[in-house]
Amino acid sequence: MRLVYSPHAIREATVQLAKQINKDYKGHQIHLIGVLKGAFIFLADLVRQIEVPCSVDFVRLSSYGSSTQSSGRVEEKIPLKDPIGGQHVIVVEEIVDSGTTLAKLLDELEAQGPASLRVCTLVDKTGRREAEIPVHYRGFRLEAGFLIGYGLDLDERYRNLPGIYVMEEGETL
Ligand code: IMP
Ligand code: MG
Repeated sequence: MRLVYSPHAIREATVQLAKQINKDYKGHQIHLIGVLKGAFIFLADLVRQIEVPCSVDFVRLSSYGSSTQSSGRVEEKIPLKDPIGGQHVIVVEEIVDSGTTLAKLLDELEAQGPASLRVCTLVDKTGRREAEIPVHYRGFRLEAGFLIGYGLDLDERYRNLPGIYVMEEGETL
C-alpha cells in the first residue's frame, strides 16, 4: 500500500473545510450527520474545528459487504433518531464513491424538510459515480483507487491508520 494523504495533509484539509463551514453558517446552528462506520474519525476531527453551534447524529449505512466494490444495495443498520425538520444539515462522509449510499440517505433527509442540506466528504472519488451527488465540501478529489486508513476499511481492517493509503493492484494484505 502507498501513502496518498498524510496525517498532516488530512489535518490541513479538515481545517480548511471547517473554515469554509464556519464562514458559510455564521449566525446559524448546524446539525452534522456522520455516516458510520467510516466517517467516525473524520467527523471527530472536523467537529472540533467547527465554531458555530452544532449538534451531531450518526446513521449507519452499509453497501459494501466484504468486497472492494459496492454491492449496489444499501442497508440501513442504524437509522437516524433525531428529527431534522427546519435544521441546517450537513451529511459528513469520509468518501463518496458510486454515490449510491448517499443518494438514498439524501432522499430520506430531504423528505423530512430540513432548512438546508449539504454534503461534506473528506475524499470525493469520482471515477465510479452513478448517482448525482451535490458535494458542497470536499477535502480531496480522486479518480480511482481503493483507499484504507483514517476510518476507511478493507473488510473492517485498517480503519485505525492515521494516514490514508491506496491499495496497489493485486496486493494482498
Ligand atoms: P458508495 O455508495 O459507492 O458511494 O460508497 C460509499 C461508502 O463505501 C463509503 O462511505 C465508504 O464507507 C465505502 N467506500 C467507498 N470507497 C471506498 C474505499 O476506497 N475504501 C474504503 N471504503 C470505501
Ligand atoms: Mg462511509
